[in-house]
Amino acid sequence: MIRALKKETLDRPPFWLMRQAGRYLPEYRETRANAGSFLDLCYNPKLAEEVTLQPLRRYNMDAAILFADILLIPDALGQPLAYKEGEGPVLDAVRSAKELASLSLDNLHSVLNPVYETVDRLSSSLPESCTLIGFAGAPWTVATYMVEGRGSKDYVNIKKWIYSDPDGFQQLIDLLIISTTEYLLKQIEAGAEVVQIFDTWAGVLPDEEFAKWVTDPTAKIITAIRARHPDFPIIGFPKGAGGNLSQFVKETGVTAVSLDTAAPLEWAKTEIQPHVTVQGNLDPILLVTGGQKMVDRIHHILETLGSGSHIFNLGHGIIPQTPPENVGLLADTLHNWKQ
Ligand code: CP3
Repeated sequence: MIRALKKETLDRPPFWLMRQAGRYLPEYRETRANAGSFLDLCYNPKLAEEVTLQPLRRYNMDAAILFADILLIPDALGQPLAYKEGEGPVLDAVRSAKELASLSLDNLHSVLNPVYETVDRLSSSLPESCTLIGFAGAPWTVATYMVEGRGSKDYVNIKKWIYSDPDGFQQLIDLLIISTTEYLLKQIEAGAEVVQIFDTWAGVLPDEEFAKWVTDPTAKIITAIRARHPDFPIIGFPKGAGGNLSQFVKETGVTAVSLDTAAPLEWAKTEIQPHVTVQGNLDPILLVTGGQKMVDRIHHILETLGSGSHIFNLGHGIIPQTPPENVGLLADTLHNWKQ
């Protein structure tokens, strides 16, 4: 993984899967039931370490991703948050600069300390060959949940805010830039070897707003991290960025980008891969389908991106309906591959 991030071309790309720990695994569901709530699981270093390791016991991935969630930052800033069965995350929405007064950085590290402890535990329990990935949500994506109060289809409230009061909304983004930078630095100091910044809802912004709310905040976080840890490997994932991915890569300083499922491979090979390592991009639904169709598509991705630096992954996270044996077939297909 580290060699791929140094832009080496390898015989077989390293692989891991977004959301590799989670509800498609029966052992996860059991640990989750014993933990109490989802947040109790995230803030319990021993159990969070356990669920991080569960997929690795089955499938020999080349990297482990810390078990946590992108919404722990709003929680640590003091915004009430709950994960409701069948509904996903629900927060008390903040929708104006005035309402930001209810948020504060004061308890950031005391709330997030168990996450740093999970990273610390993992950095001793993982074998040398398995890279530990820390992560955070990007300011824009975290803000969508903070402003909408839940997952959204149309992003009406956050878009109304950016169009009617961009300076006020910038205050929320600035608070997220500071807290996310500090959160990632603590993960790095606890032993994370790479960090990934998830901007899952980057693709809902029109072109004219993309640089201001996606590229700029990510660039600021990366500059601040590199001021302390020069050359530290950072993977960006501005999902749905389309043609804006080129600008994102040039202006943020990411080491690698994760390609979403829709990213055309030939375009990624000529426009993106010469600049940074690319990660991706099997459709997570093909992992539900499995079989020869999945194997053929994996081979196609490996053939197209194999002449440059590549980390194999999905184009988005594993979904709960995924049969665990299909993940096994994917792992075998990758382990048997040689360029
Ligand atoms: O990748 C991993 O295995 C590490 C853990 C991880 C989780 N969430 C655990 C989780 C990571 C990296 C995330 C990131 C995350 N969280 C994102 C960005 C990546 C993406 O997939 O788009 C986003 C948007 C969230 C916010 C979030 N957390 C939502 C919308 C939900 C509910 C819906 C859903 O997809 O499950 C969560 C809950 C969540 N986060 C679960 C897990 C394992 C399921 C909780 C449960 O056990 O019920």
